[in-house]
Amino acid sequence: MTTPARLLPLFTRSHEGGRSSMTCQYRCGDACDQPVPNTSDNEYFGDLVAAGVSRRAALRAGGAGAALVGLTAWSMPSAAAAPSAAPSAAGAASAKGSALGFTGIAPTPATVDAVKVPEGFDWAPIISWGDPLFAGTPAFDFDNQTPAAQREQAGYNCDYTQFMQGGAGNNGAHKGLLAFNNEYTNDELMFRGAPSAAQLTDEQLEIIQAAHGITITEVSRRNANSPWRWVQGGKRNRRIHTDTPFAVDGPAAGSVHLRTSDDPRGERILGTLNNCAGGETPWGTYLSGEENFNQYFNATGAPDADGKLKRYGITSGGRGWERIQDRFSVVAEPNEVNRFGWIVEVDPQDPTSTPVKHTALGRFKHEGATTTLTADGRVAAYMGDDERFDYIYKFLSKDTYREGDKKHNMRLLSEGDLYVAKLAGDGAADGEYDGTGQWLPLIVDGVSHVPGMSVEEVLIWTRLAADKVGPTKMDRPEDVQPNPVNGRIYAAMTNNTARTPGQIDEANPRAANKHGHVTEFTEDGGDHGALTFTWKIVLVAGNPSDPETYFNGYDKSEVSPISCPDNVAFDAKGNLWISTDGMPGTLNYCDALYVMPLEGADKGKLQQFLSVPVGAETCGPTIINENSVIVAVQHPGEVSGATPENVISQFPYRGDGQPRPSVIHAYRRHGK
Ligand code: FEO
Ligand code: CA
Ligand code: CA
Repeated sequence: MTTPARLLPLFTRSHEGGRSSMTCQYRCGDACDQPVPNTSDNEYFGDLVAAGVSRRAALRAGGAGAALVGLTAWSMPSAAAAPSAAPSAAGAASAKGSALGFTGIAPTPATVDAVKVPEGFDWAPIISWGDPLFAGTPAFDFDNQTPAAQREQAGYNCDYTQFMQGGAGNNGAHKGLLAFNNEYTNDELMFRGAPSAAQLTDEQLEIIQAAHGITITEVSRRNANSPWRWVQGGKRNRRIHTDTPFAVDGPAAGSVHLRTSDDPRGERILGTLNNCAGGETPWGTYLSGEENFNQYFNATGAPDADGKLKRYGITSGGRGWERIQDRFSVVAEPNEVNRFGWIVEVDPQDPTSTPVKHTALGRFKHEGATTTLTADGRVAAYMGDDERFDYIYKFLSKDTYREGDKKHNMRLLSEGDLYVAKLAGDGAADGEYDGTGQWLPLIVDGVSHVPGMSVEEVLIWTRLAADKVGPTKMDRPEDVQPNPVNGRIYAAMTNNTARTPGQIDEANPRAANKHGHVTEFTEDGGDHGALTFTWKIVLVAGNPSDPETYFNGYDKSEVSPISCPDNVAFDAKGNLWISTDGMPGTLNYCDALYVMPLEGADKGKLQQFLSVPVGAETCGPTIINENSVIVAVQHPGEVSGATPENVISQFPYRGDGQPRPSVIHAYRRHGK
């Protein structure tokens, strides 16, 4: 698809985290402007001691700690060989003969309203906000949206995508199913006059609620060389939104802390909120993480003597939802807020199925959950809590996977053990940010390992439980995902500008970390059921000319700039794909999708595959094969000052003159 390449003025104020202030307000409730919720006294530097490396030895090895404290120079031989000249965008673009089957593109200036893909590729929207899902659903009409129409149309701000090839009977090379999250809304871009939360009408608030959740749609293509497109009226099409009933399962189901006036038994919850990343289970279901749910609840006047609301950032809300539904007022309905912040599981093949909130996986700001099997056939789920100074978790199912038994397998996330990660550095002498680690138990065999907290308390207030056992405070851990080829786990630490020099450790080695890093975990014995692991940072993001950056040892004159890694994905060869959230604010480039080989001669050679338009974030990459990549283009045109009357992006350029978040397909042109 041809896209207009227009240059538009930016008048954005960048927040510390790299996003525009509009992103911060609507998606995470200005999290960066709020106090860090984790005020526990878990140590930072102390983890070196836990690894058996004395603090003094570490300091000696690093020359008074220079390599560990301050990260002024990367001491690896490969980095020493890197030229000091800035490896420019042109340098990245000129990388030829990539083993990846494409030539990396240059970074795109942050003001460009276009999707950029490599030579030989094209792109097209698969589905956009407002596209009708059912036979009688009204077509998208920007000026005449209604709650009823929006409940049957694709939701807003697409995030995690899951693509499953095949028709309803798993037949048809040109049929498929696409499920994706609708994380949040840009209220100011959805309605003329850019109303503030206080100005939104009740009907507008209902439209906003209906635009949250999950969209599932059948897709088709004309032939193997054409792009996928949504199918209106597909048999498996479904919208899940804030009024869709969810079952609750696991040890906290029915807890007194989950009971409300609408649900006195605490086992049926309406809706899912702020669905960010996710993962496909081995049995083909869809997992989705409820992330910044706090912003929808107004806790003004609510007592919080034990700090539970504060630890989850639940303050004065700001979205105005309590005006139309009491349950979003913490004073009116104190337990409703406990019913969000879970991992949810949906069977995308059955539009009549009841989605489930799995309490066994704990409650925090779930980025997502990704699953794999242990050596003895249990399910391991890896999860990040996307907050500055929060933690990485692992769940191990009690029961084992049974091939072909979906009913059984859909119970696997209902019961099991929950752990949180503690990382120990091994010191600077080896020139690597690496070390060992352990999964600290929170719940094992149905028993709480957290002093003073019951099993259901550990699951409902997992952050407070984890604080008590001493895990490592990470730099906003987002996607945590097993690589199906090499069996290792890759975790994106997006950034953390609040980390002070006194708070750095080998696993989070940069103070004021605005560019983020990616860490590789290897479970001991290669078994996802192991309770100990080794780890190594494989990417320290930023402009490659910055001496603090590291690209797994690759020559930095040959790699692309990157910042704020957020989602990770893998192709069939096990190459690591990384999408970003925040490049406009940190490097003045559009957010993008990258690929970095993890093995062989090109190990560490980070190349840019595509970039998304001005104001947008690259989300939820699905790498179908070397010719076919799906990404969610979230919040296009989300720039401070943008309104429907002052449009900054017209992505996906379908003629309606407004930005519409869309899932897009980048595909290789036939014969290229
Ligand atoms: Fe929704 Fe953690 O990004
Ligand atoms: Ca080391
Ligand atoms: Ca994300």
